[in-house]
Amino acid sequence: MSETQPAEPQPQAPDLAREVGRRRTFAIISHPDAGKTTLTEKLLLYGGAIHLAGAVKAKRASRHATSDWMELEKQRGISVTTSVMSFPYNGAIVNLLDTPGHQDFSEDTYRTLSAVDSAVMLIDAAKGVEAQTKKLFQVCRLRGIPIFTFINKLDRHGKDPLDLMDEIERVLGIRSCPLNWPIGMGPGFKGVFDRRTGKLHLFDASGRHGEVKVEGRTSDVNDPAIVSALGESAHRRLIEENEMLDVAGDPFDFERVRQGQLAPMFFGSAMTNFGVEPFLNAFLDLAPTPAPRATKTGEVDPTSERFTGFIFKIQANMDPAHHDRIAFMRIVSGRFERGMAVRHLRLAKDVRLSSSTQFLAQERTAVEEGYAGDVIGLFDPGLFRIGDTLSGGAGEPFEGIPRFSPEHFAKVRVKEALKRKQLLAGLDQLSEEGAIQVFRQRGMGDQHLLIGAVGALQFDVLVFRLKSEYGVEIILDRMPFALARWVSGTGYDPKHFERGESAVCVEDKDGQPIVLFRNEWALGYAQEHMPKTLELRETAG
Ligand code: G4P
Repeated sequence: MSETQPAEPQPQAPDLAREVGRRRTFAIISHPDAGKTTLTEKLLLYGGAIHLAGAVKAKRASRHATSDWMELEKQRGISVTTSVMSFPYNGAIVNLLDTPGHQDFSEDTYRTLSAVDSAVMLIDAAKGVEAQTKKLFQVCRLRGIPIFTFINKLDRHGKDPLDLMDEIERVLGIRSCPLNWPIGMGPGFKGVFDRRTGKLHLFDASGRHGEVKVEGRTSDVNDPAIVSALGESAHRRLIEENEMLDVAGDPFDFERVRQGQLAPMFFGSAMTNFGVEPFLNAFLDLAPTPAPRATKTGEVDPTSERFTGFIFKIQANMDPAHHDRIAFMRIVSGRFERGMAVRHLRLAKDVRLSSSTQFLAQERTAVEEGYAGDVIGLFDPGLFRIGDTLSGGAGEPFEGIPRFSPEHFAKVRVKEALKRKQLLAGLDQLSEEGAIQVFRQRGMGDQHLLIGAVGALQFDVLVFRLKSEYGVEIILDRMPFALARWVSGTGYDPKHFERGESAVCVEDKDGQPIVLFRNEWALGYAQEHMPKTLELRETAG
């Protein structure tokens, strides 16, 4: 007869799958003025992270008062840097990575998108798909990031919802699947119809103009009281449009969303809070959980026991009083614990992650633990570079974060020759942060440096920061180039490209050849005439 052995006491392992399953890490992409700040704030309001809308903007203002180089932001009235906001909501952990909203954005924006699992594409109902939305959408598509659409400002007259669906398909090449539908528009905007549950969310527009949560009620679409409240014709239109979507529209299909073929769509008004809560609930329900990440030898699963993470952003002097530099790490797998020792794969050495910070609407709090999808701010004494992998043991580094083609170029000169060393240190720092890229003319070492930036505003940031942080005054001579392409393949010879003034061959900081072109025409000409063994790429890394 066999005896039952008492079970060995097991150490209480954290339930990784459960922790990963409740995380949603995303960014909002939009054209300036579509309402990103407003929606962010409302998500924080409904998430319970703030109690009165207006706080984020107010914080921004007070942050300016204590931050020197952000003076530039104040002068321009825009946000140059990005931040991370984290809050629990209905059992989920929401990580919202903020990207700068100004037209003149930097590579930072692109890199932030390398750390999210989905993106909310915010569109102004009156304006439709605008230039920057298009650009950011393309980055998401390139990186395989699923998109959710929020059509904003329904409290004003805008384009017809069906026309907006068409426009998104025509301009961006993605189908939409409306999960709710607006009831009226402009002054007649009364709420949204939840197509998943068949319920109406009606809102009360009176009160404190979106500062606090809006009172709402949920009703059945055929409730006679609702029919009379909406008016027969508005009610009929709502029913007809939804019947049409049922027949002709695309049903929700998670796989298609994941593959970037379909975008779930929501309507609302961030300013008046209409539709914000139904959006947040549905989004958290449907948005993907933290994804695996590729290394050269395979993918790392978010639930694997070994801790891994990568640095996607470095920011200096967020608070000049602390003279610090913060490296933002996205956790990919395992469990992060404050003070843990991890392997820094590029440097092949162990480092202790003792000073870690999480962010809530610019307030820093020490963070004790984290899981895949979380973003941790690490105090950085100069150890980290963008793309670095940290691992709880030996392992393969994650594939690099691509550098994107800059669109603005300038030669840099120092006003005082003796300040060259400081200049090089400053340029190093700023290029590690991803604000600019530094190029060298072939064979000239550090003598002739060129600066490339994704947005022209970065030149102002560069001049300002070099002066205030490194004491170097520089002169930038703008160059007439607009495109950069990394060259790969065999048989490269600058002679293939440097014909006349239309292109110049330089090297990036890793010595990789890169060609700057004046315009699309010059690029096209080069592509036609260069050897077939060469390839020109828009990103490096
Ligand atoms: P951004 O971060 O995308 O650049 O946009 P932001 O939230 O700052 O919003 C841009 C403008 O659009 C703001 O108006 C904001 O109040 C308004 N807005 C945002 N959401 C809605 C909405 O749902 N409906 C309407 N009607 N307006 C909306 P502003 O006048 O520039 O600034 P403010 O004085 O209101 O702060």
